[in-house]
Amino acid sequence: MNSKQNIKKPEGKLGILVPGIGAVSTTFMAGVFAARKNLGKPIGSISQMGKIRLGKRTENRNPLVKDFVPLASLDDIVFGGWDIFSDNAYEAAVRAGVLEKDLLNSVKDDMSAVKPMPAVFNHKFVKNLDGEHIKKEPTKMDEAKALIKDIQEFKKNNNCDRVVMIWCASTEVYTEETEVHQSAEAFEKALEENHPSIAPSMIYAYAAVKSGVPFANGAPNLTVDIPALTELSDNLNVPIAGKDFKTGQTLMKTILGPGLKARLLGINGWFSTNILGNRDGQVLDDAESFKTKEVSKLSVLDSILEPEKYPELYKDMYHKVRINYYPPKGDDKESWDNIDIFGWLGYKMQIKVNFLCKDSILAAPVVLDLALFMDLAQRAKMKGIQEWLSFYFKSPQTKEGLEPIHDIFLQKIKFENTLRYLMGETLINHLGLDYYEE
Ligand SMILES: NC(=O)c1ccc[n+]([C@@H]2O[C@H](COP(=O)([O-])OP(=O)(O)OC[C@H]3O[C@@H](n4cnc5c(N)ncnc54)[C@H](O)[C@@H]3O)[C@@H](O)[C@H]2O)c1
Repeated sequence: MNSKQNIKKPEGKLGILVPGIGAVSTTFMAGVFAARKNLGKPIGSISQMGKIRLGKRTENRNPLVKDFVPLASLDDIVFGGWDIFSDNAYEAAVRAGVLEKDLLNSVKDDMSAVKPMPAVFNHKFVKNLDGEHIKKEPTKMDEAKALIKDIQEFKKNNNCDRVVMIWCASTEVYTEETEVHQSAEAFEKALEENHPSIAPSMIYAYAAVKSGVPFANGAPNLTVDIPALTELSDNLNVPIAGKDFKTGQTLMKTILGPGLKARLLGINGWFSTNILGNRDGQVLDDAESFKTKEVSKLSVLDSILEPEKYPELYKDMYHKVRINYYPPKGDDKESWDNIDIFGWLGYKMQIKVNFLCKDSILAAPVVLDLALFMDLAQRAKMKGIQEWLSFYFKSPQTKEGLEPIHDIFLQKIKFENTLRYLMGETLINHLGLDYYEE
């Protein structure tokens, strides 16, 4: 059994490297700087504000998660990253337009100091963007080596004890696994040969894993979800996780879906549409990038509702997801869900959800938690796919042959029990035994 004795203390600085200095990552960084100065609260972050029950309910032990497990402190975080544009994090945040100018100005010096390194980029994978701040290396293997060098230099220059990497860059076009993704050996050969099936995000993930840096994927791209990289992360003892931050409409879906299913209410149809206007929306306006997102969003309901087990209730459900680029919305996404349900004797009812959400405001605490828990995982000697962090993903990565769990409440139980297990506490199964006869 793992125990707290085996977890290395979070001493020294933790570097958080993000490919993609855009809306999500700059909202995340600005929030951490603001929280450090007590200018705002890290709302939505389990690592900062969450509590965890320990032992029996009668024991009344409910410490803050950050007092229970040894997590890096916000004061010890250093940020870095890459982007295809050379804007520093302050400029990128102003351009993204998520946070108010007053707040951004109060953290301007910290934010301006985060300057992106030149990116590994390939226009074929993000068709609606063109940048000028890009590495020029002859092969994909050379690009990987350049990223490994960036990581080493960042670590040294910022005096970091540890580094984690969280993919916050644009969604790449839909890619399916091919033979070059099947083993580390085939993948490395493909890198040398500049194989077209190797996406930039995979090169970042490879560089991270080779550097012993935990890697989490916030976008729906395949990235680290290929046998070559899961094999490498296992062999090199590096935690990995993915994919696609669970925010916005999908977050609502994984909250509502399990509730309807728990009461065995049938569903005929679930129509979800979104309008959004940020750069993410612009990228997703390309059909191939949208396809990557669509696949990630569609998988959720089937897994929650289990139509094969409940055919009368869910077998014929029509599920449709649309995303529309509408520039006036900026980062203020608006989503509509029309849910056609049925109950007792098949009587029909409808639920309408109109969520006026700020995507990056929902994503920022997810990035922070993932960075801190991935660092914890590494210090606790956990390796490979970190399924206990499924709670944070739309399309959770699992070991081959396992079905992902999408129900947010089951994910939360798994997450909390993993923390209890790591700290040598009794796992909680919510079974009360006191009402049984002796
Ligand atoms: N906001 C959310 O709630 C949410 C939820 C789930 C997933 N995501 C995903 O997170 C990612 C970031 O979202 P965002 O709103 O910040 O988008 P954004 O467009 O504001 O930022 C992405 C940044 O990545 C940069 N980029 C693209 N390719 C790159 C590469 N190869 N290397 C380095 N930089 C690169 C772009 O120039 C851009 O600045 C997207 O993939 C999005 O789909 C966001």
